[in-house]
Amino acid sequence: MRCSKWIKLKDGRECLLRNAEEEDGQAVLDNFLLTHEQTDFLSSYADEITLTLEQERAFLKAKADSSNELELIALVEGTVVGLAGVISIGNRYKVRHRASFGISIDREFWGLGIGSEMLKMCIEYAGRAGYEQLELEAVAENETALAMYRKAGFKEYGRNPRGMKSRISGYQELVYFRMEL
Ligand SMILES: CC(C)(COP(=O)(O)OP(=O)(O)OC[C@H]1O[C@@H](n2cnc3c(N)ncnc32)[C@H](O)[C@@H]1OP(=O)(O)O)[C@@H](O)C(=O)NCCC(=O)NCCS
Repeated sequence: MRCSKWIKLKDGRECLLRNAEEEDGQAVLDNFLLTHEQTDFLSSYADEITLTLEQERAFLKAKADSSNELELIALVEGTVVGLAGVISIGNRYKVRHRASFGISIDREFWGLGIGSEMLKMCIEYAGRAGYEQLELEAVAENETALAMYRKAGFKEYGRNPRGMKSRISGYQELVYFRMEL
């Protein structure tokens, strides 16, 4: 899916939110690896990411051409600083009303409003794409993310105390959220 929107950040800078294209492959991969090194709240470590540039480009092309999935990027002064996406849970009848949401932003750009705006855009997109429910999971200690999801209207529906196992801190509790669209 293709889309584009300019937003103003809390520090006054302009930020472009748009769908990623094949040509963004290297910048997206760089940002993906960077954010996975910066935080322990994501579900993989940078050294586990084996995606090649060709695979990334093909992935972004498929997303841009897709009618029910979105890979959104945030650009500040021409640099990709964040990624967010709406991913189909599945194409079978019983689950095709559900989509999941994921997001990661370069730590240097946290707290400027990018996450909330990307989330808003993805929620709007998911509704337009025909999904009836948007879902996500977050580490219980990830207070920024939990606050952002609650503020956007997501409701908690359960927890898994051993949802992930960090190399640094051991078990991480996962909080499950859903939003009816
Ligand atoms: C979670 C994340 C996406 C938030 O993005 P962001 O651009 O920093 O978020 P925003 O600036 O839009 O702030 C979102 C909300 O978080 C809360 N928040 C922001 N900064 C905060 C801080 N320092 N402490 C506590 N809450 C904070 C606020 O409620 C804020 O909303 P408000 O400013 O309207 O009140 C970002 O921190 C990130 O990429 N983290 C690493 C990856 C990650 O955790 N992804 C989510 C996995 S579930």
